[in-house]
Amino acid sequence: MKHALTLIALAAGLTVAAQAQTFPGSKPVTFVVPFAAGGPTDRVARDLAEAMRKAVPGGNFVVENTAGAGGTIAATKVAKANPDGHTLMVWHIGMAATPALYRKLGYKALEDFEYLGMINDVPMTLVGKPQLQANTYRDFENHIRANAGKLNIAHAGLGSASHICGLLWQSTLQTKDAMTTIPFGGTAPAMTALMGGQVDVMCDQTTNTTAQIESGRIKAFAVTTAKPLSNHPVLKHYPSLQEMGLKNFNLTIWHGLYAPKGTPAEVIKVLNDGLKKALKDPEFIKKQEGLGAIVVNDKRVEPAEHKKFVAAEMAKIKAAVDAAGKYAD
Ligand code: MLT
Repeated sequence: MKHALTLIALAAGLTVAAQAQTFPGSKPVTFVVPFAAGGPTDRVARDLAEAMRKAVPGGNFVVENTAGAGGTIAATKVAKANPDGHTLMVWHIGMAATPALYRKLGYKALEDFEYLGMINDVPMTLVGKPQLQANTYRDFENHIRANAGKLNIAHAGLGSASHICGLLWQSTLQTKDAMTTIPFGGTAPAMTALMGGQVDVMCDQTTNTTAQIESGRIKAFAVTTAKPLSNHPVLKHYPSLQEMGLKNFNLTIWHGLYAPKGTPAEVIKVLNDGLKKALKDPEFIKKQEGLGAIVVNDKRVEPAEHKKFVAAEMAKIKAAVDAAGKYAD
């Protein structure tokens, strides 16, 4: 019996090794996106899947959306997925924020995933519905204060980028009556509600707002980067929050690629090599930069540096959340 079990384990080990040698093979590689289709994270994942299809010969990269709970439902699913390289996750600052906000999570962000490299850095924008009675950041701030407790702000769930940005910005207003928060499964549906005037305000990634700002379907008031985005044809028209007196306000969110813990080293190498090639793809870069994102081109494309970066972000956010004492659960 013991001999048989050894043989089975040997065979299983051999199968994984053999699969790793032939990865990706014909089976699709799925990028799980923790938010609704059509939003900024979905956008990055779909553009990357296209570039990876060129970068990894024979690779069939597809995207699947699993929205909910600020992205933690998808993260739990991927942490528990078969570590064969065919189930991956594209996620953002939520990877660092949710362990601080949720005291009970179905995964450990630093232990249950393989870090495959960072993808991009994305500034955020403070935007409002087209009917909002304000046209400059000053008007906007005064309008919020004059209507304290009467206005609402949309976000993509507790721990999402739009939630974190909204929280950080509102904390600068020092108004007693906060805005009502309206959660969505992603900022794609939230954007539809904003354009329709069903919600008043949102802080969202430029990759989701730039086109709507350019077309006039929403209003924009400021960018969250330390400096204004002076090189961007659309976003250059808006001040940075620091210029508006919000000292030290500097928020850029980032996206990375992740696999379940235990994914074979050979598979991680194929995926990381593919990612590095995709990040140099002129078409991918053009699409991302057109929407205000910056494609990562530094040591964070290396798995170990990616993990180090996220661990540092996690510690920073945990300190802020513990100081505020506000948790999602
Ligand atoms: C999305 O793709 O919907 C966003 O990344 C959500 C968010 O975190 O704000």
